[in-house]
Amino acid sequence: MTHKVLVLPGDYIGPEIVTEAEKVLAQVNEQFGLGVEVEHGLLGGAALDVHGVPMPEQTLRDARAADAILLGAVGGPKWDSVARELRPERGLLGIRSELELFGNLRPAILYPQLASASSLKPEIVAGLDILIVRELTGGIYFGEPRGIRTLENGEREGFNTYVYRESEIERIAHLAFSLARKRDKRVCSVDKSNVLEVTVLWREVLESIAPKYPDVELSHLYVDNAAMQLVMAPKQFDVIVTGNMFGDILSDAAAMLTGSIGMLPSASLDKDGRGMYEPCHGSAPDIAGQGKANPLATILSVAMMLRYTLAAPEAATAIETAVSAVLDAGLRTPDIHTQGDRLVGTVEMGEAVVTQLRSR
Ligand code: IPM
Ligand code: MG
Repeated sequence: MTHKVLVLPGDYIGPEIVTEAEKVLAQVNEQFGLGVEVEHGLLGGAALDVHGVPMPEQTLRDARAADAILLGAVGGPKWDSVARELRPERGLLGIRSELELFGNLRPAILYPQLASASSLKPEIVAGLDILIVRELTGGIYFGEPRGIRTLENGEREGFNTYVYRESEIERIAHLAFSLARKRDKRVCSVDKSNVLEVTVLWREVLESIAPKYPDVELSHLYVDNAAMQLVMAPKQFDVIVTGNMFGDILSDAAAMLTGSIGMLPSASLDKDGRGMYEPCHGSAPDIAGQGKANPLATILSVAMMLRYTLAAPEAATAIETAVSAVLDAGLRTPDIHTQGDRLVGTVEMGEAVVTQLRSR
């Protein structure tokens, strides 16, 4: 059996980190006989430059035909002045939406070796293991109407629509509850139901699904409080489930608890578990082309791909163990570097993981 993996490197540091992740994928493919076949495509600014659109038809066709997608990162200042509907980010949002990748899993796990790289005191973050489940194809990111219009008095007004249907809330709730079952069995739903009707409904639907999972405890927090709790006492959380925009924001905050956003992988799944895998971080134009970017978030995204879509949990664990061993050996890219560690670049970090896998 073969698995088709479509690789979309994207922009700025995207190709640098994806190259290392592909080396790791090739290594486990050989070691575990996974039958993975890799193809490449263009998305984001890279696609815009070649085809004039951020999500070319060809890319969408290849994405639909693939079992899994590995994405680097898209966007950056080079395309700041292009029309809004042609922005590189639209390519990413388009592919999420077209493939109905509604379930975004963002695990924030603290590797003990990185406790001192966290912005919080080691005792606050030691043992941290949070899973953020972010709704990815709805909410204010996609709600219509949207735009910028000119009022009668000539003043301009920007507007978006924050909307969720019951069915959209139900499916993300089921995903969060079933994932919690495999963990510490606690779901915290984050909303703003003291102000926004759409999240009043969100909370109601969560409550209505909860009895189907009597072994899982459901709690609720307003998003402002959740942000505070995340940086005050993050270990209270097991699974956090929330909408698209709140999830975007909270996952960046959670990322920094783990030392660096350069460590955070993600999976975006459809209802059948097919998915797109990408680091949570962006295209980091400020460090692009310097060989400094941390490839571990992308490498760990490959591990998630093996676990969630390609049904190869041993290979996934092997990658995670190899990453841990490389951190044990003291290798650090600049984002996770503290005094006394060995400073390495993107390629050296990637190759160290491959070497570690080979020596199993
Ligand atoms: C993310 C990113 C994207 C998002 C951007 C690049 C459109 O921030 O995956 O978190 O907002 O979803
Ligand atoms: Mg984000």
